[in-house]
Amino acid sequence: MNRRRFIASSSAALAASLVTLESDKLFAQRADGKKLRVGLVGTGVRGISCWGKALRDDYGDVLEFVALSDINPGRLRYGREYIGADCPVFTDFDEMLETVPMDFLIVTTVDATHHEFIVKGLKKGLTVFTEKPMTTDEFKCQEVLDAERESSGKVIVGLNYRYGHLFTELKELLAKEQIGKLTSIDFHWYLNTYHGASYFRRWHGLREKGGTLLLHKAAHHFDLLNWFADSEPVEVSAFGSLEHYGKNGPFRGDNCRTCPHKSDCKFHWDITKNEHYMKLYAANEHHDGYIRDNCLFREEIDIFDKMAVQIKYANNVQVAYSLTTYSPFEGFRIAFNGMDGRLESWEGLPWLEKQQEDQAALHAKEMSQSGGGADEGRYHEIITSMNWQESQVRKLPFVRGGHWGGDPIMKNQIFKGIAPPKDFGQQADVRQGAMSVLIGIAARRSIDEGRIVKIEELTDLKPA
Ligand SMILES: NC(=O)c1ccc[n+]([C@@H]2O[C@H](COP(=O)([O-])OP(=O)(O)OC[C@H]3O[C@@H](n4cnc5c(N)ncnc54)[C@H](O)[C@@H]3O)[C@@H](O)[C@H]2O)c1
Repeated sequence: MNRRRFIASSSAALAASLVTLESDKLFAQRADGKKLRVGLVGTGVRGISCWGKALRDDYGDVLEFVALSDINPGRLRYGREYIGADCPVFTDFDEMLETVPMDFLIVTTVDATHHEFIVKGLKKGLTVFTEKPMTTDEFKCQEVLDAERESSGKVIVGLNYRYGHLFTELKELLAKEQIGKLTSIDFHWYLNTYHGASYFRRWHGLREKGGTLLLHKAAHHFDLLNWFADSEPVEVSAFGSLEHYGKNGPFRGDNCRTCPHKSDCKFHWDITKNEHYMKLYAANEHHDGYIRDNCLFREEIDIFDKMAVQIKYANNVQVAYSLTTYSPFEGFRIAFNGMDGRLESWEGLPWLEKQQEDQAALHAKEMSQSGGGADEGRYHEIITSMNWQESQVRKLPFVRGGHWGGDPIMKNQIFKGIAPPKDFGQQADVRQGAMSVLIGIAARRSIDEGRIVKIEELTDLKPA
């Protein structure tokens, strides 16, 4: 029998809603102790690490890899070896699906191809886990929605930020209406010249592959916003341009390994120092021409490197969001404005980190007989400012690895049926996956067409 669980909803009255999670259904089906039979398509870095080796190492008692697929035969072979999976490999996905019985399909391919495997998996009645973004345009999104409606299987979308400790804390405070009714959110994300630049080196730099960073990256952020706002987006307007990377660069080369500008280029990246990447990518580039250390100044790059998006929600919450890809530091600022006050948090702002260190040093001094703090002087802060009162700063242990500690919580829920310690409906279904990408798709269209785009223009989903 399926387990049914009351999940605390974050709606105004913390109404409880009865939800049967897809992972709970799967878990119940394995009550006989049989291992979950897992197939995976896309043996790139995310596929073979987080959803490959780490899964086999940490959940080998409850699941087994039964097949792997990728269009690149070399990466596929290396992926199997890296994961340590003793299973057949297929460069033909359809053949894998036809010949290998499985229960669970993991999709970790290039973003613009996710829909293809989701739809085929659903047609087979499988539970399909897809990495974010669920897909990259409205037509593919509609295909996924239709396929799920016709299938006995379901989609789980890897929107892992929701599970992160800091974000769950913020969600809890919003659900408790700490600052009264939520009215607006300011959210600004800064990718630095290492992480931000990395997207322009490879397929993410092409709209046709990653849908622009409004999909590839911001889907995470838009999903958090939907979850925090406890509503669905209705209208989107946006600006964006490409001013730093791509054709804007002063010079370009074929790839960083052979580039004549190695010594002048501040973005030069030496992939040869990374043995894993050399084996995964460089050793297999002759199969498909995928150059992992490609030039981020190549002319073909057609995505935005700065983006500003305004979102209006069905419950009238409004959002000001931005994404910058060439920031001197990596971090974010988020603030929630409510009728009674304001809640905010941040990460990675160097001048505040400095203050943090000082505070930690102070604390370590106070605690010196016990040898000082073990948090390396870093912590998260949640600042609550109630109207006409002083701001209160709450410090949380700094957890950044595994997406703010969210990845293991998400996996425990999917593969072991263990609910998150603070359960706010973190497991994202197809509708939530769709809503997170529809904002990016609408924003991209808004930039292209210079107008406000309504979410209901895009698919048959009506925002609620
Ligand atoms: N949730 C997160 O925090 C997170 C982090 C990193 C990556 N991701 C997602 O994981 C996915 C993979 O990212 P990555 O960094 O591993 O990329 P990658 O380029 O290393 O791997 C992508 C793989 O897909 C394969 N592929 C491409 N088209 C295919 C097709 N038609 N059929 C079969 N295989 C195909 C490629 O050969 C490659 O091996 C992306 O969707 C990305 O958005 C999510």
